[in-house]
Amino acid sequence: MTTGRDTRTAPEPVGDPVDPATAAPQLDDLEALRAAAHDCTGCELWEPATQTVFGAGPSSAWLMFVGEQPGDREDLAGEPFVGPAGKLLDRALEQAGITRDETYVTNAVKHFRFERRGSRRIHKTPAVGHVRACRPWLDAELRVVRPTVVATLGATAAKALLGPKFRITESRGTVLEWEGFALVPTIHPSAILRLDPAERDAGFDALVADLKVVAAQH
Ligand code: URA
Repeated sequence: MTTGRDTRTAPEPVGDPVDPATAAPQLDDLEALRAAAHDCTGCELWEPATQTVFGAGPSSAWLMFVGEQPGDREDLAGEPFVGPAGKLLDRALEQAGITRDETYVTNAVKHFRFERRGSRRIHKTPAVGHVRACRPWLDAELRVVRPTVVATLGATAAKALLGPKFRITESRGTVLEWEGFALVPTIHPSAILRLDPAERDAGFDALVADLKVVAAQH
């Protein structure tokens, strides 16, 4: 039976968030954080997922990308943005004059949320409760990396940092001040992959234009 209630943005019950201050022995060490996050059971997503996908990149990175959550490929590889969206991001970064090696790339949620359809695992947008449960890890990454610029990819990441009222269409490609960081919101590379082929080039060029705004902050 369906109640007709719209649950798309309703917080869903998840476990108590894990506090990295107690879970991780050294907050100034990305490796210690990554090891602690490996065992995170702060929400129920850990169980069906293959592994925690923690952020990747040097702690000296001037730029941090925050995506939504790992996808199917990332869940299997244990690394963020290594699938089709990551490849598109790499191409856009190159055109904007940024190399991936100078960036730290992470996600608002560090386990893959999916629905099984036969043998396929279909991406399911994380709920507000999952973003909240995972937030201590993102805060710890920001504290350790201390980038000058944070670029959010897509609505989930932007809302995770800027609040639920944030509208990406209104502010993408602009430089906002957030908690002492320059923050540039842009769209998620997966959104470009989902575009009608006739619109894909324009979507890609718009992402590159936003990334050039990011590059100009360096
Ligand atoms: N999409 C994301 O938001 N993050 C990834 O790591 C991969 C795809």
